[in-house]
Amino acid sequence: MNYSERKFAIPALDGISQKSVDEHLALYAGYVKNFNTIASKLVEYAADTEKNAHALSELIRRKSFEFDGMRLHEYYFEQFEGGAKKLDKSSALGQAFEKDYHGYFKEYFTAIGNMRGPGWAILYYDPIQKEFQAGFVGEQHQGHFATLPIILALDVWEHAYLLDYGALGKAKYLDAFFKNINWSVCAKRYEALAK
Ligand SMILES: [Fe+2]
Repeated sequence: MNYSERKFAIPALDGISQKSVDEHLALYAGYVKNFNTIASKLVEYAADTEKNAHALSELIRRKSFEFDGMRLHEYYFEQFEGGAKKLDKSSALGQAFEKDYHGYFKEYFTAIGNMRGPGWAILYYDPIQKEFQAGFVGEQHQGHFATLPIILALDVWEHAYLLDYGALGKAKYLDAFFKNINWSVCAKRYEALAK
């Protein structure tokens, strides 16, 4: 069954232009389309695995690239819905941040976002160990923490900031990203896991 492109109610953002958001959403739609194409080709090629061995292996390799591109963008755009809202310090996430990051989360996460190469800075939560894991995912499929759910996803591919800030503008984009987050979205993700 095909995956469907999600629609997001994103208000005007501060420092991220409408044109950039529109092009980024179109790129997201491409991941959904490509994942569906790969899934249907796999069914077709699986009818003769010997004859199609090379094509199958390439499609299998690309499958998680397209899936992760689709799902991570959904987490990313969702964080802008409802407009910018600061993290409520009395919320479960606010308290956990204070305990684990002592007020330096933004600096730490920005440093991860500033790492070289296309990818994502991602904050996960490990419900088993009950602690956060922040990491850098190359492209969108290399370096995930297996099984861990996502609290915050920050796209740091160049396409996220090239239009507004140019190839050297990542730092300005990171500032803009933090200005526009609706932290209540992340707080809800955390609350669903930390019970
Ligand atoms: Fe992106």
